[in-house]
This record gives sequence, C-alpha cells and structure tokens, in this order.
Amino acid sequence: MLDFLGDLRRTHMCGALRASHAGERVVLMGWVNRRRDLGNLLFVDLRDRNGITQAVFNREFDQALHEKASGLRSEYVVAVTGTVKQRDPATVNKNIPTGEVELVAHELRVLNESKTPPFLPGEAVLPNEEARLKYRYIDLRRERMQFNIELRHKVALAIRQHLAGQGFFEIETPFMTRSTPEGARDYLVPSRVYPGSFYALPQSPQLFKQILMISGFDKYFQIVRCFRDEDLRADRQPEFTQIDLEMTFPTPDRVFEVVEGFLAAAWDAAGCAIQTPFPRMTYDQAIRLYGSDKPDLRLPAMADVRECFASQDLAALRIAENTPVVAIRIPKVGELSRKERDDIKPLFGERKQARLFEDSKRLEKSFPQAMEKARAKCGAEAGDLLVLVAGNGQVPEHKSEGGVKPEVKQHDHAVFTAAGALRVALGQKYAERHGAFQQREFRFLWVTDFPMFEWDEEGKRWAAAHHPFTSPQERDMDKLESDPGAVRALAYDVVLNGTELGSGSIRIHRQDIQKKIFHALGMTDEEARQRFGFFLEALEYGTPPHGGIALGLDRIVMILAGAESLREVIPFPKTAKAIDMMVDAPTPVSEAQLRDLGIQVRSAARKQASE
Ligand code: AMO
Repeated sequence: MLDFLGDLRRTHMCGALRASHAGERVVLMGWVNRRRDLGNLLFVDLRDRNGITQAVFNREFDQALHEKASGLRSEYVVAVTGTVKQRDPATVNKNIPTGEVELVAHELRVLNESKTPPFLPGEAVLPNEEARLKYRYIDLRRERMQFNIELRHKVALAIRQHLAGQGFFEIETPFMTRSTPEGARDYLVPSRVYPGSFYALPQSPQLFKQILMISGFDKYFQIVRCFRDEDLRADRQPEFTQIDLEMTFPTPDRVFEVVEGFLAAAWDAAGCAIQTPFPRMTYDQAIRLYGSDKPDLRLPAMADVRECFASQDLAALRIAENTPVVAIRIPKVGELSRKERDDIKPLFGERKQARLFEDSKRLEKSFPQAMEKARAKCGAEAGDLLVLVAGNGQVPEHKSEGGVKPEVKQHDHAVFTAAGALRVALGQKYAERHGAFQQREFRFLWVTDFPMFEWDEEGKRWAAAHHPFTSPQERDMDKLESDPGAVRALAYDVVLNGTELGSGSIRIHRQDIQKKIFHALGMTDEEARQRFGFFLEALEYGTPPHGGIALGLDRIVMILAGAESLREVIPFPKTAKAIDMMVDAPTPVSEAQLRDLGIQVRSAARKQASE
C-alpha cells in the first residue's frame, strides 16, 4: 500500500544533517539507496541530489514501523520523519558528510515503489553504456552524473552572469531557419504548409548574430543549441551547446579578453583558478612545433633536427632534401622493448609524404654525433622516448603565382601533421608513464592567423577554412585572387589541452570584400545570392565592423569534469550512431504524417532504416 504525501513538508535535504542538528525532529524525502537488515535494527540509506543520510528503524521502538520498513526495496521513494541522533564514535561513517549522525525514524511514508532497476545508482562498477543510455533516468541518479550536471549548470550560470555584467545581451535566434554556413550536413524540418520545402536546424547562429550587429545590439551572446549531421566522435554530438558571442568594432584582442574573462569565471565556478591572458601562437608555429592546430601544451614541443645531421647522414637515411626532420619527445617513457618499438609503427600508419624512424637506439649507433645533437636540441633526458619523422620522396613544388610562399609549405605541412598525430598517439599510449595528463593542469592557448582557404582535393577548389564570412587579414587582401593559399584570416581558436574549445573571427563587413571571397571560393554571384541573399542584402545597409567567437559548452564541462566523452556531461545525449536510446529516436513516422508533409519515403530507405 502506498501512502500519500499529504501536507508533509520536507525540512532538510539528505546531505544536510550534521552533529549540530542532534535532537531535532526532521523530515527527509528521497530514494532508498540501500537497506541493511540487522534483525532488530534496519538501516535505510536515504538519497537525494544533495547526499545520503542513514535512517534507523528499531523493532524494539516500533514494531509496526519496523515491519513497514522491511518492505522497502532499492529506489523506492519515501518520506521519513524522525529525530537526528549523533552516532557513537565507533559507528561514524567518515565517507559521507552526514556520517556523524543518523535519523531515528518515527514515521515512514512509502510514496512510490520501483521495479528492480537494471543497475543501481550506488553500484561501484559502471554499467554498460547501452543500459546507461536506455535507462538514463536511473543513470542520472548516480552521484557522478549528478555532480556533472550540477557542474554544467554552475558553469553556464557563471558564464551568463559574467557576460551580462560586461554588457552583453542574451538574444534568442531561430531554430527553424535556412541552411547555415558551417559546412556540416543540415538536419531538415519539412514544411506542411509548403510541401517540398524545408527549414534547416541551425548549425550555429552565425548569420543571425552578424545581423544582430547590423541591427545595433553591440554585444550579443547566447548559450544555444546547435545541430550538425556529421560523423560523431567522443567530442562531437549531433546536437550540442555553444556559448556564442558577437560584438561590434572589436579587435581580436578584445574578443580574447572577453573569452578569457568568462572562462576564468567558469573555472572559478568549478573551484579552479586559471591564469589569464592565455599564451598565443600563430597557426604556422602551431604546425611546426606541435603538428596540429590544437596543440596539447602538456607535452614537449617537437623540434626540427635536420641541421643536426650531416648531408651524407641524410642521404644514407634516404631523407628527402629540404624537408623537416621532426623529433618527437615523450618524457619518462623509459627503455622500450623491441615489441614496444614495433608497436609504434601502427600508430604512425601508412603515410605517403612522411617516414618514421622509431628506433632511436639504432640511429644512435649509426649516427652517434647527429643523435647527440638532436637529443640536446630537444632537451631530451635519460629515459625520454625520442622518435623521428622525416619527409619522404620528392617534394612537390608549391605553386604560388604571386611569388608569395606560404610559411609552411604543403609538403612540410604533411610531415609536421603526421608527426603531430604520432605525438598525440604516443602521449596517450604512455600517459601513465609521463604522468602529464594526470595532474589537473589546464593549458589554454590562442591559435591565430589561420589560413583563409583550404584546398579541397575532391572538389578541386578552394574552400573556406573557417566560414566564408571570415575577414582576410588586411595585409593579404591583394593575394585573394593571385595566391589564395597564402591569404591569412583574422580567425582564431581557443585551445585547451589539445581540444579545440572554440573558434571565431573578425567578419567581413564590406560587400565588395565579401564578393571577392565568394569568387575566390568559386561561387558565382547568382549562387551566392541564392544561398545567402538575405545576408548580402543586409550587408548593404550600414554594417559595422564586427567579430566574435563560439565555444563548445559541452567540451568545457567535459574537461572540467575530467570526463572522456561528451555523453558524460549531457543529460540526454545520443550514441555514436546518433540514436537516442531512451526515447528511441529517430523512428519512422506514420503514412498519414508523411502524406501531410507531401513526403514519400523510398522503400529501400525504409528497409535500411529498419535493419
Ligand atoms: P565552429 O564550427 O568551429 O564555429 O564551432 C565552435 C565550437 O563549437 C563546438 N562544436 C561542437 N561541440 C560538440 N559537438 C559538435 N558536433 C560540435 N561542433 C562544434 C566546438 C567548436 O570549437 N559560427 C562559428 C563560430 C564563430 O565564428 O563565431 C562556429 O560555429 O567546441
């Protein structure tokens, strides 16, 4: 028999009681976390968001009450009225904040039962992820998840308060809109009123926030959901949350200042202090030193050790001329066995333009002087792992009609990034040995001066590296047509421990420059008008210089929570196959719904979906 709550009021949360409450009559409400039956004494751990309190039911004190409590099972929902009692020193539980007291029960109301759950929130062993996602409401009762979701709330609130304090307005932008320029696939929403026409869910509020600047709102922000149909990874979800902001008349420095301010507030809300301003590095430096545009500064930078080798050494090693010889150093790895050395090769994989020299011992034997110099250049100490990555074969001449060579040639770029990927893989593989990831260390970094365009090999054309509304740097304007590969953008990323937290740029505010960019991207005026006509028109009505950035809230909370996946910090996430296991979405819809929308699903697609 279940009881009604009636007018019983909760007096305390389950984590609130301390020795100072001894003697008070209190009412707790929550879930049965655990029940232990010691004959005359029955202990019930009551749990809510706030913590756990032990309630005691004593048969000698009240037999009927004791009997009622014996019927409790895990996850039943109860209200217990009782008196707070200080525990004997011998029975104090030092593991919980309420461990000095217990609640001597006078009354028990069983408010609801629970089926035996597929796993218990208090279990030390983590259930498998499928069960966790299907029964998310139970998974969310786990202490860790409650902590993560509370952290997310605190971080978002701190950011909101900080930005509001800096004069930013939070302004909503539509979810039902048209295709946005971020370059992933759109999620589409069919229109019933206009069969065959679709809204697109925004991949970001990019154009709306720029229009808000044209509208004179000066400083905008939004903690906003974005939708992208792209291949998922641990740090990507199909719907995720951005801290999106835009301001008028900013220099990149001003944007950096704002971001550093709200990140410091977010870290503070999580109980950590960070140092601002963050260091800065150009994209070219990041590639040369870390082989990545999102360097993890917790491990040492790479070094080009080519000059340490005599030319006959390089010839003997068949290392291509004028290409870098990149040394990767991972500290404190210790002596590697033959097998461990062999295991490095698959981490490097097959590369057309780069070769791996994983056995520095053999190199040390054959080229002792060169290797000694190389070790010194990298600052390698005894026990540090050193592997080399060098250019392979012929270096293709970089075509640069305007005579301006990009600072990092394309071939060198391939060598640096191959080395960079190996550096990250080795860093992860030997994480326990070097220990650099174990400390709670937050190494932020601004990466600046990104290239404006990337060569799209498939489409044989230049594509926008950030998005087509990013401003080129003034000093590179004249290369837009003659040498697009050499044009740098007023674009920047904020990076933390090897993860891209956010990306932004100063935007184009002039119609003439915007047109040039579309041309450089191989878009005709007509195509540009079709895709972004409303925006191009808006640009003609007094657009101020403006710029901004968007950071991934999920990624920030993931790092702060020390979690490995975004799923740990999103209450209702999707699987790596973009499925919501709890509500079972996506699903086919009824014929009638489809008919209303004027949509016919091909039978092959239906079959594929049901497989
Ligand atoms: P961008 O596409 O780089 O820039 O996105 C900005 C930040 O959003 C986060 N993010 C994601 N997080 C989780 N899952 C995803 N699928 C996902 N995709 C992106 C990342 C990323 O750094 N409109 C521009 C910003 C601007 O120019 O102001 C934009 O969206 O943390």
